Amino acid sequence: MSTDSDKKLFSTYALGNINLDNRVVMSPMTRSRAIDYLPNELMAEYYTQRSGAGLIITEGTAPSKNGLGYARIPGAYSDAQVEGWKGVTESVHADGGKIFLQLMHCGRMSHPLNVPEGGKVVAPSAIAPEGKMYTDQEGEQPYPTPNALTAEEIEQTVEEYVTASKNAIAAGFDGVEIHGANGYLIEQFLNPGSNVRTDDWGGSWQNRNRFAIEVTRRVIDAIGAERVGIRISPYGAFGSMDPGYDDVETQYLALADELSKLGAVYLHLVDHSSMGTPEVPREFKKKLRETFKNTFIISGGYDAERAEADLQEGLGDLVAFGRPYISNPDLVERFKKGAELNDPKPDYFYTPGAEGYTDYPTLEEEK
Ligand SMILES: Cc1cc2nc3c(=O)[nH]c(=O)nc-3n(C[C@H](O)[C@H](O)[C@H](O)COP(=O)(O)O)c2cc1C
Repeated sequence: MSTDSDKKLFSTYALGNINLDNRVVMSPMTRSRAIDYLPNELMAEYYTQRSGAGLIITEGTAPSKNGLGYARIPGAYSDAQVEGWKGVTESVHADGGKIFLQLMHCGRMSHPLNVPEGGKVVAPSAIAPEGKMYTDQEGEQPYPTPNALTAEEIEQTVEEYVTASKNAIAAGFDGVEIHGANGYLIEQFLNPGSNVRTDDWGGSWQNRNRFAIEVTRRVIDAIGAERVGIRISPYGAFGSMDPGYDDVETQYLALADELSKLGAVYLHLVDHSSMGTPEVPREFKKKLRETFKNTFIISGGYDAERAEADLQEGLGDLVAFGRPYISNPDLVERFKKGAELNDPKPDYFYTPGAEGYTDYPTLEEEK
C-alpha cells in the first residue's frame, strides 16, 4: 500500500540553488492588503502562516508606479517597500519557508485612481480592455484607454523590472517570478488583440515575444538565472485577451524555447479552465514541458489527488495551488492527513484587513 511518504507531492525538490521541502507551491494571489502600496506586518503574518508550502510566490507586485493597477497592491520600487518586504521574507525564512516575489506590471489593467501621482496607465497599444475595474474612491469604473508606450518608454519599462528584481533580492527574496500571464503588461505584448504595434515590438508573433524575452534576459543578467522564473497563460482570456488566435502554440513553444535557453529557473503554466477560460490542451502542455528544460510548474484547479497523478505522469515538477491556500494556511498538513479543506470566502479576497485573510484556522486550531 502506498503511504503519504511515498507521494511525490511531499518529496523534496531542488529548485536552482534552493531546496524545497515539498512540491506544493502557493500560487501568486493579489489580496489588496498593502495600504499605500506598502507591504506590512499583516502580510508578513499571512505569508508566514503559509510557509509550509515548498515555495510561496507572492501576490503580483508592481515594479514601478506605472505598474500599479488595482487598489492596495504592493510595489517593489521604493526603499519603504523594500523595508516592508524584508519583514515578510525574514519571517517566512525564520519559519523554514522559501519565497519568490511576483513582479506584475498591470499595464492597461489599471485605472488612474489606483495609480499614485507620477504614474500613468500604459500598454503596447492604445486599446482599452472591456469591462470595469474597482477603485476605492469611486467604486467600479470603466477601464481607460491606455497610453501606448514609445520605444524609449519600453526600454525604461524593461529597466523598471531590473531595478525591482534587484530590490527583491535586497529585500531577501529567494527569487522573482516575472508575471507574463493573465492579461497584464507582458501578455498585452504577447497577444495580437492588445498589441497592434508596427515596430519591432509588435506585428509578427516573433516581435510580440520580444518584450517577454527582453525582460527575462535583463532580469537574469541582473540577479542570476537560478533566481528567475516566469508565468505564462497561453489560451488565457483574462483582461480581454484573445484566447485562441492562429499560431498561439507556435508562438508559446518558441517563447518557452527562448526562456529555456536563457536558463530561467522555472516556467509556470496557468490553466484557468477551472475559472471559466478555455482549457490548455494537454498535448500542448506536454510539448511546453518538453521544450522548457528546467523546472516546470503546473497550476489551476488542482486538488491533492490530481496533483499527485500529474506529477507521477511527469506533466510537471511542482504544482501550484491558489484558492485552497487562501482558506487553508496549513494546506500541506491537511493534504498529508487527508483532512477536509476550509472553503475560501470570495467576499474577502480583496478587502483590507485581517478578516478572510489571516483568520482561517489550521487543523490544530480547529481542535
Ligand atoms: C484572489 C485571487 C488573486 C489572484 N491574483 C493573482 C496574481 O496576483 N498573480 C497571478 O499570477 N495570478 C493570480 N491569481 C490566479 C492564481 O494564481 C491561480 O492561477 C488561480 O487561482 C487558479 O488556481 P486555483 O484553481 O488553484 O485557485 C489570483 C487568483 C485569485 C483567486
